[in-house]
Amino acid sequence: MNLFDTVREVLDRRAPEVARSRGLSLEELYRQMGNSIDVMLAEWQREGAPSIPYHDPVFQLAYVYSHVAMNAHLLDEALRCEFPIKGRPVSVGSALLNLLKKTDRLRICTFGSGPGTELLGLSRFLGSKWLPHIPVELDVLHMDRVDQWAPSSKALQDSIESQFGRKRKLAFSTSFLPWNASKPDVASQTRALEERHLFLFSYVVSELLDQAELDAVSGLLSQMVRASPHAVFLIIDRFGDDRTQANISSLVAGAGLQPLAEDTLPNYVGFDEHAKTSLRQYVNVIGRMPRGSRFGGKKEAQFVIAQRP
Ligand SMILES: C[S@@+](CC[C@H](N)C(=O)[O-])C[C@H]1O[C@@H](n2cnc3c(N)ncnc32)[C@H](O)[C@@H]1O
Repeated sequence: MNLFDTVREVLDRRAPEVARSRGLSLEELYRQMGNSIDVMLAEWQREGAPSIPYHDPVFQLAYVYSHVAMNAHLLDEALRCEFPIKGRPVSVGSALLNLLKKTDRLRICTFGSGPGTELLGLSRFLGSKWLPHIPVELDVLHMDRVDQWAPSSKALQDSIESQFGRKRKLAFSTSFLPWNASKPDVASQTRALEERHLFLFSYVVSELLDQAELDAVSGLLSQMVRASPHAVFLIIDRFGDDRTQANISSLVAGAGLQPLAEDTLPNYVGFDEHAKTSLRQYVNVIGRMPRGSRFGGKKEAQFVIAQRP
């Protein structure tokens, strides 16, 4: 099963529900998804932070169709990336596997999780490894300002569970914490301050508005660093965007983290064929291939791995 099969399962389940609630035929819905992809692209391409109606189920389906497989793939790749520590090659993935020799529960926090793409990337990585404990539990706290993602993230989690659950000995316990970077709410942060092993930022730093928002996230993050002194922070985002690069550096420095590795990732040769096969019924009407499937080998993402010094 490839990542696009998971995407298809989510679309197959959610599209008829959304079409019914909007009074649209499936064809009309797919066309609107195509338009939504164009709108998102234009928002990401313009100067400054994008403004995208993620609460709108049509945009959510468009996002799932176009971005979830690619972002999950990039996270999987970033987890595997080796970098030297004290002269020895390590990776975030190998650190997680070492941790699983001592615990059967990985505690993870994801910022701006959207439909929960990070769960797919992590499951894919762990599902490809021999795991010492049976089963391994992924305990994930999703943080996002848009709680309307819930039906899409439930559909994605169900699909991940059926793919990686019993067969690959992965168990999932997920929860959602409403979090708006621009309105830090101290009362709701206690749950964010439980000890975690891994913090993930996948394509959210590029959406933060301004220095005030970055400062607010750095402030929360530095509290989280104190609560989780051994945790690893992985920040992954789009490549070739100076504002995003500067935002990542500012966030890492502001939270008092030390960068351990920085690198770039190419998009994935072969995505095209997988997408065409799995998403056949959607591709023709939507009129666009999912992101990353056209120019295999081009630089797609930058990432930073950081930890408390
Ligand atoms: C591009 S999506 C990334 C989704 C997912 N992490 C992925 O990699 O596919 C950006 C997500 O960040 C969230 N987001 C953007 N700005 C935010 C803010 N200021 N506070 C909280 N969440 C925010 C959006 O609601 C959206 O779900």
